[in-house]
Amino acid sequence: MQCSKDKKSLTAVITVVVSVLVLISTATHADYRTFVPSPEQPYYFENGKVDFGTYNGFRRYHADCHVCHGPAGLGSAYAPALLESLKTLSWGDFVTVIVQGRVGLNNMVMPPFAENIDVLANMSDIYAYLKARADGVIGPIRPKRFPKVRKPR
Ligand code: HEC
Repeated sequence: MQCSKDKKSLTAVITVVVSVLVLISTATHADYRTFVPSPEQPYYFENGKVDFGTYNGFRRYHADCHVCHGPAGLGSAYAPALLESLKTLSWGDFVTVIVQGRVGLNNMVMPPFAENIDVLANMSDIYAYLKARADGVIGPIRPKRFPKVRKPR
């Protein structure tokens, strides 16, 4: 009798210890759920998958930019390959060009997107996508992704 009681309380203690360890490891292990993009690290990549924002950037890029800049940031006869530009272009300069536009050599025009809410609201996702392309982390096709994470407000 006594013995089985001891076993039960031992099992209870082990259960508590294991749950605490699991809690600590999920809290400290950074993954796509805890990832917060920054200009230094705008995308998350693990096991062949990107975070949802970077995936969204892929979609937005192909909605608003690829007509001139070519599929997957590869460039065209009209506009530069952004996967090359983003090897050196800062987040600040990226934003400036998109908001203000630019008239380049031979009068090739980068139109200003200051009034395009879709582009403005998704600029950091487009940047993340192009940065992942520039770093050679993802290829030219639609990237695989982690689920969308609801961020606390
Ligand atoms: C109508 C064609 C067109 C569209 C659409 C367009 N661009 Fe451009 N973009 C250009 C041209 C042309 C240039 C080069 C301007 C120059 O030579 O200074 C350029 C330059 C840029 C640059 C600077 C590149 C560098 O190397 O300095 C960035 C960044 C850029 N575009 C981002 C974007 C993004 C992001 C989108 C979509 C939201 C977009 N562009 C849509 C034509 C376009």
